[in-house]
Amino acid sequence: MATRNSSSRRSTGRSGSSTRTTTRRRTPDAIALLRADHKLVSELFEQFEKTRSANRKRDIVEQICQELTVHAQIEEEIFYPAFKEALRDKELVPEARVEHETLKSLIAQVQGVEPDGEDYDAKVKVMGEYVKHHVKEEQGEMFKKAKASRLDLQALGEQLMQRKQELMGELSGEETGELATEDMGQSDDR
Ligand SMILES: [Fe+2]
Ligand SMILES: [Fe+2]
Repeated sequence: MATRNSSSRRSTGRSGSSTRTTTRRRTPDAIALLRADHKLVSELFEQFEKTRSANRKRDIVEQICQELTVHAQIEEEIFYPAFKEALRDKELVPEARVEHETLKSLIAQVQGVEPDGEDYDAKVKVMGEYVKHHVKEEQGEMFKKAKASRLDLQALGEQLMQRKQELMGELSGEETGELATEDMGQSDDR
């Protein structure tokens, strides 16, 4: 699956990645991309902890839910299957998938709900702790193994980035066309 298919790279606008190295690294590799998502979400949970305003809390939680939903989906669609195949994994991916299901039910409990005090805050806090646990397992085990494997993390990073932009566009209802919508689903050779 994660074979080199750099010929399918196309310009997708957005210069999110570094412009220092103009030759190759247009997008982060899979591990860098997923780690960056983890970091962003972790920072959002920290912001939530410090926030008093109900409006602000609602906005932060909305962003957390959106980020986590898209992140979980690109892992499930692209990263996990590639990892499972390359490492003949029968343990880490199934466990991570089960954890995603729990996460989704935690998301469903707070997404679109008005912050109304202790219970809401508690749910967000539990979700943050759960995410931390999940991230620790991914980064501590799965990503380490992925790095030491034959997986083409650069090609996977490109697939992840493209799918992420597509899903983010769908979620935020943007139809501006500046993201990768015209490339939809074509890079995926399953
Ligand atoms: Fe995950
Ligand atoms: Fe993750």
